Amino acid sequence: MAGACWAASMASLAFPQTLINTNNHLSDHSTLSAPKFHFAGHGNLLRRCKSPRILRKRASYRAEGLIESAVDVPLLTGLEVIERLRAKREQLKVKQQFLAMYSSVLGGIVTDSAAMSIPLDDHMVHRGHGVFDTAAIMDGHLYELDQHLDRIHRSASMAKIRPPFDRETIRQILIRTVGVSQCRKGSLRYWLSAGPGDFQLSPSCCPESALYAVVIQDQSPLDSRGIKVITSSVPMKPPQFATMKSVNYLPNVLSKMDAEEVGAYAAIWLDDEGLVAEGPNMNVGFVTKERELLMPRFDKILSGCTAKRVLSLAEELVKEGKIKGIRVGDVMVEEGKGSEEMMLIGSGILVRSVIQWDDQVVGNGKEGPVAQALLNAILADMKSGPSSVRTPVPY
Ligand SMILES: Cc1ncc(COP(=O)(O)O)c(C=O)c1O
Repeated sequence: MAGACWAASMASLAFPQTLINTNNHLSDHSTLSAPKFHFAGHGNLLRRCKSPRILRKRASYRAEGLIESAVDVPLLTGLEVIERLRAKREQLKVKQQFLAMYSSVLGGIVTDSAAMSIPLDDHMVHRGHGVFDTAAIMDGHLYELDQHLDRIHRSASMAKIRPPFDRETIRQILIRTVGVSQCRKGSLRYWLSAGPGDFQLSPSCCPESALYAVVIQDQSPLDSRGIKVITSSVPMKPPQFATMKSVNYLPNVLSKMDAEEVGAYAAIWLDDEGLVAEGPNMNVGFVTKERELLMPRFDKILSGCTAKRVLSLAEELVKEGKIKGIRVGDVMVEEGKGSEEMMLIGSGILVRSVIQWDDQVVGNGKEGPVAQALLNAILADMKSGPSSVRTPVPY
């Protein structure tokens, strides 16, 4: 998922007051400041300013070659920014729709996607000092909200971010945001950030941490066709960072792009000992030759809420004789590639069969029955599981 990118791009677009201007003696954009802006071409700005002083300056800038009329960069009002953001979103024609956003900086919820923005000076945007998590919305319920909340609080503590509210308040804000959105199928993504303040490396001048949340509608049908994976050539994060769900997903993004470039769905990370670790936003599972469900241990990778739930739901499959046992432990690459079944597991993908890893066909090259049974079990759990995994949303 591309939440952080979204946040960053929105941030850079939506806050005209943070236009990069190193002209320290200027306090507002109505003052002529062409030479100090980090971009060329202020024709529009200068065209709008008609006072004799400004016209003289304009002439002198032109004479000094400081105005490049070829590039027209307009100075926008706050209202124009919102209009442009709205038009941009309409142009994008993306499948996902953002139905509501909560921001502790704004102190409320917005449903106009053009207004869904975060400040550029938020430490999360310019230093990656933020953590995030997701919870699926299914049939008007949040799936595994409390498990994901536990994880974001763990991540926040590892990132030394003190949340702006207590856990219960955050939980209520998240549920309320989904309620306002009217979304019944999609996902809720939320961030805890060191918050806005300045552009320094230290967050000491970010007085208040921030909570942001967005509700994303997803109407796309579930795809359960088998997929191909490759071994990632992008180094994986060291355990301190891999076990924390921070917004630093550049390695994950690059590894996903590597996979897509060769027609694969994802790239699998191997850890420092060469053992199977995880995918860029999912865990991995196998059905061994001994018909055990096997997953890598979670000490160097993200503790996936879906993988943990799958491990518990798989007990039913043991009772039914579909698998002989369940094991979390070291997974050698040869064992993984030579397994009966391989699957990717995560809240975005749920459970998806892998039919090929690098050049090796996994199992019989078809979607595996255990992966299918686990997908059905997760779907049933999402629709009618116990209250410990299903939080009703009051709409
Ligand atoms: C690196 C990584 N591993 C695993 C997962 C799967 O976790 P979950 O099942 O909680 O979505 C994710 C998903 O967020 C992830 O980003």
